[in-house]
Amino acid sequence: MSESEWSIEKARKVYGIGRNDLRFLDIDDDGYLLLKIGEHSISFEEIIRRIHSKNFEYDGYTTSFTLRVPQLIISQMNRLKSAFDKARNDLDYPGEFLAVYPVKVNQRKDCVTTVVGSDPAYGLEAGTKAELLLIQRVIGDAKQRRIICNGAKDPEYLDMIHEMQEDGFHMAVSVESVHEAKLITERFESEKTELVLRLKPYISVEGHWSHSSGRDSKFGLSIHDLFSVVELFKASGFEGCITTILAHAGSQIEDVTSFGRLGEYMTRVYVELLDMGLRNLKIIDFGGGLAIDYDSTNREDYMEEYARQLVQGIQRGLSVDSTKRPAPDILVESGRGITALGSIVVVEGLEVRSVFPEPEEYTSEELTAARDEWLGRISRTTTVKDLVPLWNEFHSIHTVPGTDLRRTLENEMIVGELESAVRRHIAETLAPRGETDFISSGMLRSFWYPEHIVVGNFSVFNAIGDYVLVHQHFPIVPHASLDVHPETTVRLVDITCDSDGEFSQFHRPQTETIWFTKDFRPMTMPKPEKGKGVPIGRLENLHGSFFVIALTGAYQDVIEMNHNLLGDLPDIEVSVSEQGRWSVTWVEGAERMGDILEEVGYKDIDTKDDPYMSGSR
Ligand SMILES: Cc1ncc(COP(=O)(O)O)c(C=O)c1O
Repeated sequence: MSESEWSIEKARKVYGIGRNDLRFLDIDDDGYLLLKIGEHSISFEEIIRRIHSKNFEYDGYTTSFTLRVPQLIISQMNRLKSAFDKARNDLDYPGEFLAVYPVKVNQRKDCVTTVVGSDPAYGLEAGTKAELLLIQRVIGDAKQRRIICNGAKDPEYLDMIHEMQEDGFHMAVSVESVHEAKLITERFESEKTELVLRLKPYISVEGHWSHSSGRDSKFGLSIHDLFSVVELFKASGFEGCITTILAHAGSQIEDVTSFGRLGEYMTRVYVELLDMGLRNLKIIDFGGGLAIDYDSTNREDYMEEYARQLVQGIQRGLSVDSTKRPAPDILVESGRGITALGSIVVVEGLEVRSVFPEPEEYTSEELTAARDEWLGRISRTTTVKDLVPLWNEFHSIHTVPGTDLRRTLENEMIVGELESAVRRHIAETLAPRGETDFISSGMLRSFWYPEHIVVGNFSVFNAIGDYVLVHQHFPIVPHASLDVHPETTVRLVDITCDSDGEFSQFHRPQTETIWFTKDFRPMTMPKPEKGKGVPIGRLENLHGSFFVIALTGAYQDVIEMNHNLLGDLPDIEVSVSEQGRWSVTWVEGAERMGDILEEVGYKDIDTKDDPYMSGSR
């Protein structure tokens, strides 16, 4: 692809911008990345400039930061509600739609208050005593909100729930074991109590958290426990307290048809429990699972289809026999789907390091001749497969270290030059002939391994922990130079002293013919795939430029690690008024070294400074 063939539209395609859950990103004519809320947009360059000009005198100012965008959380809540309104309308379903936000997904005050502040009917879910305390504080006098209390319960947790119930809060206590059921009957009064039976969903789902469903799931009542609990509640007069059954089948369920199966399974259970005498059962809580489209490949109507699948599944479950049962209300505890868009990590590139030396004249004639011989062999190769032994051979012959430092340097020069010749040969000669047998081979991925490393002013472990913990994919886009044909791809490494402290995975989207960077690294593939290397416009512009890592609002704040005593980045909130006026507000600075040190037992090192680099702007 020549420079003139590059376009902003192509950049959108390469980075997945403007599609599905990245619909809030766009690119302006000058190649700057834009943040879009509704009809209004602002460039990340402008956001960064404003933060820099106004805030550098604050404690904890660091050039990298986490951008909080509460309006994107609200837009997800509205989309979810609309999806269910549409499904219920289209399918003529009389049951109500109810939603609670599970605070475990992001407990930050700005996130929870955004949820609560934008919908008086939205409930909250707690998984521990501490989360319940948080909920009590956030909702204040709005006691009508449903609070679902999940998680393992000891007498103290139950007493807290009981007190809040006495105080007029709308408490729904989930029962996850026979032991918990006994504790509840001993502490609560049957006339005032609302109970949720949490069940193991006996269906199979795909994805990293698939073990949340099925017999071996950690959560909920097994089928034999369910029988025992129902008997126990009947015997103690609590069967009328059960309003809800709940099953959470796992997070990030990308196969939307799973929800149809979950809907049907839970409704069959609902029908049987009604028949067993649970006369007040009227809600099915389907937990979370609503997926985020991290690589912009899911169907565009995923959220609408999610709602439709659940409703259709329920309808199938209700039609098991001819007896007419009331249509249950549908409750969801979506967390990831609500909050992921609300945070964006913006990382400054501090310096660029090159793996190979700049080419220069070889001092040895023998090496010059060897290089020419290799280049000849590469150019005569007719299949990608045949390049593999050649690649291995020149790597093993021009191995490092050499006999002395100069020889080592020249070996590195040769390898760099030959690697680049292989890539050029594939892109210019073999790929146009339809030679794409390199697509699936792990070995061949090393052909395109980036040769430039950008050091970013951040810690992957703190800002995007799931990238290392569960190898979760997150989209990454340079904030500038998106209008030029990308020069190459890079690895973004952090400033921890850990080799895992790197963020380099890129999703190469699908195009009919492969689009290569100027140095012949693929940015797209005939079949989409993930690989190392983030395409960047111009290497020379990277110092002091930024990478935007999106969709980090779910779980990443919760699991952050202070590896190497690198704590939180500063938090900046951005919002736009109806008139299109943007405000960028400093929420808090990077975590102080003094506070981080206190957490590991050093109470007397009182410094306000933060541990990040001072930056290059
Ligand atoms: C009971 C329960 N509800 C809801 C959620 C949120 O799931 P998600 O983030 O997939 O929406 C979880 C996540 O672990 C959960 O355990």
